[in-house]
Parts: sequence; structure tokens; C-alpha cells
Amino acid sequence: MALRQIIKEPDAFLRKTCRKVEKIDERILTLLDDMAETMYAADGVGLAAPQVGILKRVVVIDVGDESGLIELINPEIISVKGEQINDEGCLSVAGRRGTVKRPAKVVARALDRDGNLMEYTARGLLAVAFCHEIDHLDGILFIDKIVEETENA
Ligand code: NI
Repeated sequence: MALRQIIKEPDAFLRKTCRKVEKIDERILTLLDDMAETMYAADGVGLAAPQVGILKRVVVIDVGDESGLIELINPEIISVKGEQINDEGCLSVAGRRGTVKRPAKVVARALDRDGNLMEYTARGLLAVAFCHEIDHLDGILFIDKIVEETENA
């Protein structure tokens, strides 16, 4: 495993649309391992592949709840319900935080590292993380959706 460098806004890489993973090979498994290590080292709760310069639909999430580390390959949100407004930040956006409106509950499907199609039901902070990280795969940042700035360093 190795730490990867986190790309910062306004790098154009963060605005690209990522491609689906066609084959879960050794490179994808290494990417998942490195992304988890990089996320934990940066004290983050989620990281998407474009943040480390890889334009593939790969995400890691760990919000510190009983779900532990969640690895998502080609994730898709298949249903949403309700809404919540929470403070968000991003490892790729220094010095800015703000409130963002997100669904209260999210159901998502993704492949795991073994290629199994998994379904996740996420609420609260975990639902926020799913939305925030999957947005990254389409070049969308939370700063595009800020309702109110909470910090501007
Ligand atoms: Ni982010």
C-alpha cells in the first residue's frame, strides 16, 4: 500500500467524468488499498478516485460507524428519500466548508472488490458520504451545492 497525492481544487481533473471499471484487476485492487490508506492518513471519511488522479468510478468511504470501510466500484444511486442539510468539507477543497442539502436516505448499488454486486442503504452521515463521493465521479464538488458557507479560511 502507498499514500497517493490528493489533487486540490481548482485542478481540472476534479471536473472530469470518470469511466466505469471494466475489469477488477490488480491495479484496481491496489488503487482501492491506496485510496483507503490515503483517506485514513488525511483523516477523511471518503475519497473518490479522481481525487488521486485516476478517472475511474472507484470510491472508498468510512464514516466511523459500524459499516467500517466501504469500497465501491461503479457505484450508482438507485433511490433517494427525504432530505437533510449538513456541513460538508472535502479533502480536495482547502479552507472551505458549507452546508449542503442531501437526501436523508440513499440506496446504492456497486461492485465490491470481488466483483459481487452489493446493495447499500445509507442514512445520515453515511448517506451524505455516498452522495458526496459519487458526485466526484461526475466532476461535481460539494462547493457547487453549498447552501451556506460555514468557513472561509
Ligand atoms: Ni470530496
